[in-house]
Amino acid sequence: MCGIFGYINYLVEKDRKFILDTLVNGLSRLEYRGYDSAGLAIDGDKKNEVFAFKEVGKVAKLKELIVESNPDLTKVFDSHAGIAHTRWATHGPPSRINCHPHRSDPKWDFAVVHNGIITNYKELKALLEGKGFRFETETDTEVIAKLAKYIYDAHPDIEFPVLAKAVIKELQGAFGLLLKSVHYPHEIIAARKGSPLVIGVRTAKKMKVDFVDVEFAEDVPLSAEQASQNVALKKANNLLAPPDKSLLHRSQSRAFLSDDGVPMPTEFFLSSDPSAIVEHTKKVLYLEDDDIAHIHEGSLNIHRLKKDDATSKVRTIQTLEIELQEIMKGRFDHFMQKEIFEQPESVVNAMRGRLDIPNKTVTLGGLRQYMSTIRRCRRIIFIACGTSYHSCMAVRGIFEELTEIPIAVELASDFLDRSAPVFRDDTCVFVSQSGETADSLMALRYCLERGALTVGIVNVVGSSISLLTHCGVHINAGPEIGVASTKAYTSQFVCMVMFALSLSEDRASKQRRREEIMEGLGKVSDQFTEILKLDQSIKDMVLKFKDQKSLLLLGRGAQHATALEGALKIKEISYLHCEAVMSGELKHGVLALVDEELPIVMILTRDNIFAKSLNAYQQVIARGGRPIIICNKDDEEFPAEKTEKIEVPRTVDCLQGLLNVIPLQLMAYWLAVNANLNVDMPRNLAKSVTVE
Ligand code: F6R
Repeated sequence: MCGIFGYINYLVEKDRKFILDTLVNGLSRLEYRGYDSAGLAIDGDKKNEVFAFKEVGKVAKLKELIVESNPDLTKVFDSHAGIAHTRWATHGPPSRINCHPHRSDPKWDFAVVHNGIITNYKELKALLEGKGFRFETETDTEVIAKLAKYIYDAHPDIEFPVLAKAVIKELQGAFGLLLKSVHYPHEIIAARKGSPLVIGVRTAKKMKVDFVDVEFAEDVPLSAEQASQNVALKKANNLLAPPDKSLLHRSQSRAFLSDDGVPMPTEFFLSSDPSAIVEHTKKVLYLEDDDIAHIHEGSLNIHRLKKDDATSKVRTIQTLEIELQEIMKGRFDHFMQKEIFEQPESVVNAMRGRLDIPNKTVTLGGLRQYMSTIRRCRRIIFIACGTSYHSCMAVRGIFEELTEIPIAVELASDFLDRSAPVFRDDTCVFVSQSGETADSLMALRYCLERGALTVGIVNVVGSSISLLTHCGVHINAGPEIGVASTKAYTSQFVCMVMFALSLSEDRASKQRRREEIMEGLGKVSDQFTEILKLDQSIKDMVLKFKDQKSLLLLGRGAQHATALEGALKIKEISYLHCEAVMSGELKHGVLALVDEELPIVMILTRDNIFAKSLNAYQQVIARGGRPIIICNKDDEEFPAEKTEKIEVPRTVDCLQGLLNVIPLQLMAYWLAVNANLNVDMPRNLAKSVTVE
């Protein structure tokens, strides 16, 4: 939910202005993840001094605060560690005090930024209060800094990673964190358990180290001195929890060194999201759960929380494939607008190299190995949240039709609340833009525990869902920065249709239908471009909704999913109450709302239930309603003089929802702009919902 950013240099001279600008800039890139307050901690002018800045509101406010505080920006550091955070409140309201970084004590011996939740923070807090610590905030994070100080004070000779292990081992929950201390100047600890952390590496000259894997050596025996430290630490920990043998194991990684083994000038950028790193370096390493990274004197060492043979002993340095311009707004006023207009391209990227229309084939490389297992499964359960859930709803019909496998679509939170039955012969498909949504992630773990085959349909490469699922498809939509999901929806839709096409390739009876859908997919991009030309007319059209309190959106069959998605978009960014209703249900109650005043949008594109959808239209007209309709181009059923309409091209019925959702995205966008609202950062929401 929140965003973490850190910067550490070694033998690279940087002034404080550069360090502050880098941290603040990193936070602005992450603002879409949470934005009710922001803060950072850097070294002060004197030894053991820390400058911390915290401000409520957006990152721009933090920047103002720093300028007002007038720190010496010219001071140069050739080694320096800074950490920063943008927050979306979970424990404690947005306030300066609750804003990160959090400290161990008024002198800032330890400073921490944290994303996620420490579920046992109350117990730890009570324990530390019993040891004389005075808590300043209502957050769960503060216990981390205080626990570090508590253990350090008992063992001032302890190495930073050993101390970090001792702290992290006490924490329950899901988190990503950065820890800095005046006792370990120019060092940073980065740890991950269920919440993403990426480390970017920039070296002064091109070094081989950029391209080698970071390998784990086998556990090394402790020196006598280290062993005694650990024994002492064990004793200290006895006060907190039973001693844990894992503290006696130290795994070591290969450091970032030059060929001749000498540390080289290096900068590290740490973040919860690669989009904040890409402008500095494209060489990144993704931490895995239970990794504790220690950055020190230009080297990166990764330690494991426990000695576990199951984890991979390699952390590969990967090259990011996103470009900075991909995460910038370009000619658009808002990221959401940019992302809506990117859809003609993003759907092509979803299909590139996968859909071969002339040869009538679909190849999803990430699923190939598991295709026959999925074909034999007893049911497919799609599990997702929000917009991603709607994309699953939108393709349910075509999955059932092409695969003839029972299909269930579940909201991740409800699925878990019910402890829904899952079996080994189920295939569970997790659909998520971020790949980090806590509810979906927990449902994934639940399904893995029950032995089901799991598939990820994910946008963010290296995200938790993409790493934990057995197999999957990346939707390749590119970074989605606007909190309201748009291009991810259409790319998920396309990828899932391709999944259904691929699963049904051995069904002779479905060939004609499959070909029709493939041809339809081939035209979607151009049709998107055509629909986007309606932008201005939709902008004008929604002016009439000004001052309205509520809006009804009606759709039937697959278009019910489109209505749900449109209503969610409208609600989340324009704050206008909007209800999606299945047209067939109108007469069972909702019709009572209809009068001459209530704004209504009806989806009335042609499909095999068009006649039934028309019934609903007649029912609305008969009650004096004057709906705006979304219909196919030149449909004579709706003469222009009688109806206010948004015309979209016609496509294969099961793809029509892809086209119909675009005018609704534009409606939501212009409603929010007209109301002067923050389109990309709607109140109370965050891009990546990493809390339950
Ligand atoms: C709405 C929106 C959310 C997300 C939901 C799931 O515009 O973006 O409803 O769709 O939080 O997020 P992901 O897809 O990242 O799992």
